[in-house]
Amino acid sequence: MKPLIQVKNLKKTYATASGTMTAVSDISFELFPGETLGLVGESGCGKSTTGKCLLRLEHPTAGEIHFDGINLLSCNKKELHHFRRHAQIIFQDPYASLNPRMNALEIISEPLRVHNIAQGAAAQKMVLELLDLVGLSQTALQRYPHEFSGGQRQRIGIARALALNPRFIVCDEPISALDVSVQAQIVNLLKQLQKEKGLTYLFIAHDLAMVKYISDRVAVMYLGHIVELAAADELYKNPMHPYTQALLAAIPIPDPKVQRNRSSFVLNTELMPHTKQTSGCPFANRCPKAQAVCREQNPPLISIGEQHYTACHFN
Ligand SMILES: Nc1ncnc2c1ncn2[C@@H]1O[C@H](COP(=O)(O)OP(=O)(O)OP(=O)(O)O)[C@@H](O)[C@H]1O
Ligand code: SF4
Ligand SMILES: [Mg+2]
Repeated sequence: MKPLIQVKNLKKTYATASGTMTAVSDISFELFPGETLGLVGESGCGKSTTGKCLLRLEHPTAGEIHFDGINLLSCNKKELHHFRRHAQIIFQDPYASLNPRMNALEIISEPLRVHNIAQGAAAQKMVLELLDLVGLSQTALQRYPHEFSGGQRQRIGIARALALNPRFIVCDEPISALDVSVQAQIVNLLKQLQKEKGLTYLFIAHDLAMVKYISDRVAVMYLGHIVELAAADELYKNPMHPYTQALLAAIPIPDPKVQRNRSSFVLNTELMPHTKQTSGCPFANRCPKAQAVCREQNPPLISIGEQHYTACHFN
């Protein structure tokens, strides 16, 4: 199968008062049509920056991004406009991402208006269909963000993202801000929409427990690097990178037998600031298995099995 998105050697740096900050450092991966790639890692590891680069909301410092054969970094305006219709984002905090002065009709129809697709009665008809698709009643039309619950607001965010009939959606921690009781409903809605519409998702989350249920494959990020990438089942059964093992060890498991077999190493030190990173493995100063070579050479992401990749000198 041909990938929908190909990311090659993507890099994003920011100029800050204290020097150049590398948010994303030379990452490569592919996204196939209809799949969900989970992207996990601690706060500040570069997940959102990666998502924003893929949508061209941020301009990468280096690398290539191909969407359905179009090179997003060198394409013309027409191609970029076409791409923007097909790629959308759902944010973590639906309250912050929805304009409080616009009602649901105005919020969901905005992309239709901006892309000259429909206005007036035609737009309203499309919005009603979208509300139905995301499980909201027609009475939502004239209501404002503060009149909805968190889960309902996220449904509006999803309806807005779907308005242009996209092929690819970056879901940036779409359930992290929601009550636990509502999280499964939103994930199930995203799964159902994916099945119906053949959507491709990049699903960003802090922890592995959250992405387990929705992802086909999972990429683990650490300080701007992808350190492990594998099919979701494989990653949970057979985590190879010490950082992935530590993330999994941090998930509480009710079965003590399973817990015993897990690494007892738990992350407890602060993240090193990106600017202080040395040339070696980015995980070296927290890794219980670090050796001298780890502080000198950064291990590349290499294949260690069918569709299983890790970046560790000792895998
Ligand atoms: N516009 C910016 N200017 C300077 N630094 C930035 C900018 N945007 C992001 N960063 C930095 O880049 C790094 C990666 O940020 P990013 O938001 O991608 O992380 P994240 O993995 O999404 O974190 P979180 O889980 O907290 O959302 C962080 O150190 C962040 O402070
Ligand atoms: S390369 Fe070394 S420091 Fe990095 S994860 Fe592997 S053992 Fe740990
Ligand atoms: Mg983020």
